[in-house]
Amino acid sequence: MQRRMLNNGVEIPSIILGTSICDRQCFSRFGNYVSDKVLFKQMSDGMIYAIKNGVTGIDTGRDYNNESLLGKIFNELFRNNIAKREELFITTKVGNGQQRLRDMEKEIDISLKAMNLDYVDLWMLHWPLPDFYIENWKQLCKIYKSGKVKSIGMANIRERHLLELEQAGVELMPQVVQVECHPFRTITGLREMCKTRNIQVEAYTANCAMLPFVRENLVLQQLAQKYGKSITQIIMRWHVQQGVVPIFSSNNPSHIKENVDVFDFSLSEEDMQLIFGLNIDYKYHPESVNCPGY
Ligand SMILES: NC(=O)c1ccc[n+]([C@@H]2O[C@H](COP(=O)([O-])OP(=O)(O)OC[C@H]3O[C@@H](n4cnc5c(N)ncnc54)[C@H](OP(=O)(O)O)[C@@H]3O)[C@@H](O)[C@H]2O)c1
Repeated sequence: MQRRMLNNGVEIPSIILGTSICDRQCFSRFGNYVSDKVLFKQMSDGMIYAIKNGVTGIDTGRDYNNESLLGKIFNELFRNNIAKREELFITTKVGNGQQRLRDMEKEIDISLKAMNLDYVDLWMLHWPLPDFYIENWKQLCKIYKSGKVKSIGMANIRERHLLELEQAGVELMPQVVQVECHPFRTITGLREMCKTRNIQVEAYTANCAMLPFVRENLVLQQLAQKYGKSITQIIMRWHVQQGVVPIFSSNNPSHIKENVDVFDFSLSEEDMQLIFGLNIDYKYHPESVNCPGY
């Protein structure tokens, strides 16, 4: 898997595997309970398969309720020499409930303990929680120096939040910003702003969950035919080619393999622009349910 370099010299994989699907499935997706044992097997099988197919980036967050399951999986991966710690790029996030407690040092220790890790590669504020995020961000800047986190970032932000951080005179700006981004939500303003500040953008829900309107989109269908690739591969390539790091989730081995197998072709500039032209500012995940005032 190709890597990109963050502005602090830390390397980040070009494509990352998300894990929120494992929380959703447990609590709401099918409306039924899945035991930890079943979830562990499902998650570890998916992750081992992904790693064997070149994935080294794993994204989670405290609010996905799976940090401790991931900790058990990491133990297995390291013990069985499936991956070495230094080969993986592991991200977790501080949720709003934890932000309200205003003690970030305590929160990183809880996450590290749950995941059986000495450090995470990227630690993020999950939301720009009004009245909390600037002070909590200042704490993240201090913890960054301790080595417990190799880089720091913020998810679900808009341009105005970056400006607010600058105006607050914070020691460090986010090295990574994680937002929903796909061909139907291209967030041009934020991407341009991040470019001028050398901030890496990560795109979550990178495939727009392959909703029917995505699968049926004529432009994407024609591009898939033209390049002899699937629609998902066209979308993932579009992200990678513009220097954005896409994050997808899947429990389906053939989907995992397909989503990361995008390094043997390039989209023409004209076709890149055709995809940008699909933007309708569509948001799959609710805008503000987790963050009033967002
Ligand atoms: N920071 C935040 O607030 C935030 C919010 C949302 C998500 N995220 C992160 O981003 C990750 C991805 O987000 P997401 O799950 O919303 O988006 P997603 O990956 O776009 O959507 C997942 C859905 O897409 C399907 N899918 C994936 N690859 C496919 C393929 N090649 N063909 C057909 N269907 C495919 C999966 O089904 P199958 O299982 O059948 O493949 C699954 O139902 C999360 O796990 C999380 O780590 C972060």
